[in-house]
Amino acid sequence: MADVRDMYMAHTMLRREFRLLPQAVLDVAANDTKRAEVVALHVELVCGVLHLHHEGEDLVLWPLLLERGGEASAAIVPTMEEQHNAIHRAYDEVTGLLPGWRATGQGGEELARALEQLLSALVEHLALEEKEILPLAEKHVTAAEWNQLAEHGFAKSSKKTLPLTFGMAMYEADPELIKDLLAQAPPPARLIMPLLGPRLYASRAQRVYGTRTPPRVGA
Ligand SMILES: [Fe+2]
Repeated sequence: MADVRDMYMAHTMLRREFRLLPQAVLDVAANDTKRAEVVALHVELVCGVLHLHHEGEDLVLWPLLLERGGEASAAIVPTMEEQHNAIHRAYDEVTGLLPGWRATGQGGEELARALEQLLSALVEHLALEEKEILPLAEKHVTAAEWNQLAEHGFAKSSKKTLPLTFGMAMYEADPELIKDLLAQAPPPARLIMPLLGPRLYASRAQRVYGTRTPPRVGA
């Protein structure tokens, strides 16, 4: 059946990055479009990861649980869908404000507020998903079906940013889990990702947050 450890890994990454982004935006001086571009690039990456993560759950996980999870799923999946909608509204606000700030270095406070709103909706949702959904997935979803979630993400991510995204996910992940995840990857990726990913993430973190080792949120 499903091994849900990779979901905790993804959630930890999302919690950490979205927790750091509002301050990273506020730290950019008004009109400093050069700095705004650096931070905006990262906001864009993290928003893209969130979007694909939720899209995969909407397409793969909720339908499977509604089909098999009986009353327990029927009681929780609609709440998950409502929370996804609320998060997407906050997400649209962020992605709507981002281009203007990126181009002019103006409106950072408004963007940071929108990111704070996204964070609070997200934190509540991830906690409930871990408490109520993951135990149901372990019971009702097969390993092959579960892998479709990651496959959806891989298929739709830009190949250019994949090693950086992997490094960002690896940052707080259990090395045992990384080994297991890479065991399923083709040989070049298996060798390159664990070296390249963390380096790319450390240098991105340095540029965006001013440190190669941003504060961890824990699993
Ligand atoms: Fe999730």
